[in-house]
Amino acid sequence: MSSKPSAIIFGGLNTCSRAVAALLVPLEGEPLVSHLRIVDKYSVNPPTTYIGAEFPNILKKDNVEYRQANLTVPTNVASCFDPPEGQEPYSYVFDLTGEILWDRPEKVQITNTFGISRLLGLEAARRKVKAYVRVQHPYYECKEKGKHDEKEDVKPDGIAGTWWHETLRMLASIEDLNLVILRKAMVYGPYTDCGIVIRFIAVAATYGFQKQPMKGLWSPGKYPSHVVHIDDVAGAAWALAEWMAKVGRKEADSIAGEEIIFHNEKSKVQEVEGMVPADKKCIAPLFNLEDDSNVTMVDLGNIITSFFGTTFEFFGFMTNALVKFNLSDSVEEINETHVTAWTQMITQADPPVVNTPFTAYMDLYHLKKHTIALNADKIKNVIGYKLRRPNINHETIKEVIDKLRAEGTWPNI
Ligand SMILES: *[C@@H]1O[C@H](CO)[C@@H](O)[C@H](O)[C@H]1NC(C)=O
Repeated sequence: MSSKPSAIIFGGLNTCSRAVAALLVPLEGEPLVSHLRIVDKYSVNPPTTYIGAEFPNILKKDNVEYRQANLTVPTNVASCFDPPEGQEPYSYVFDLTGEILWDRPEKVQITNTFGISRLLGLEAARRKVKAYVRVQHPYYECKEKGKHDEKEDVKPDGIAGTWWHETLRMLASIEDLNLVILRKAMVYGPYTDCGIVIRFIAVAATYGFQKQPMKGLWSPGKYPSHVVHIDDVAGAAWALAEWMAKVGRKEADSIAGEEIIFHNEKSKVQEVEGMVPADKKCIAPLFNLEDDSNVTMVDLGNIITSFFGTTFEFFGFMTNALVKFNLSDSVEEINETHVTAWTQMITQADPPVVNTPFTAYMDLYHLKKHTIALNADKIKNVIGYKLRRPNINHETIKEVIDKLRAEGTWPNI
């Protein structure tokens, strides 16, 4: 029997799970796990979502298995935990499930985010998995000032944020679950098509292409817009799994337990199966993750636009006031020049880009002001985690763009 753990990654093909897979079973070098199963709703062959150029090669490895499954169905969830013939039960579960589209109705959030994670958490507890790592995206409005640590009561952002947060309370309430929560800042990195940063990069590229300064909306932009490299999301998820397997939930709660505060409507408790009453105290080990850059919106704008040979400014007071007053009416107008320029870029590129998930279109959610600050001292102090990519800079952006150009999804212009 192998002494290495085995692992399942659920969901997140469209967010961070490909990076976790690449860490667990690297293309070159020793795998960290004896066996890896990846489960999501998408087909990977042919792909029905963007999966990047590297991931198909990881799927070809002997000890990696991909399974397409509808995880809203309880029997599907249970069978995903059955190990392959002759193997021990899975040791680690990485839960990267959840609906990431911000404009889905509440019902969809309840089924796809809360509901799926609940089935996974209950089954993982039943099977006594040694570590269950839940990855939480920054669907919060943080305060501009403050410590931004895990004790701070951050407010979930919108319907998606509310149900992603509720999911943490529900998981926390499963006593026998070896749960640890990784709450990350805005992610960026190679082959990462989700989130705000990559859109921002695409828009900055269009301004560079047009040799115009990029204009931001939220002057003076001094609010935190903290980021984290995807390699660190993977690295931290692994480090937390290893830690949890050693200490177990009870000790983990006593070392790193935080209260997950109720932020929902009390009336929902009766309506949604498995929801934890508002007055029940839910404690779980929770760790923030962000890089050391501590960037504000202006810093991020400066770093990214200068990479594309342009500058970052803000709209004048009048435009700003008008747009802020009614952002949803301005979305199409704001996007017109971005989208036109991006289309020119991908058609004039050599070779032309025929198929790409990347876009300079910023929808309402991506245009809004998002204050994200999640102090990551705790994971460094308690787990001893060391950031692999401590700063966002020209080098880390270059790596992203070079890899996308090489796979033909980013204009070479
Ligand atoms: C998954 O299963 C549920 C419940 O049977 C069903 O309503 C839903 O349409 C299925 N989703 C897909 C993508 O097939």
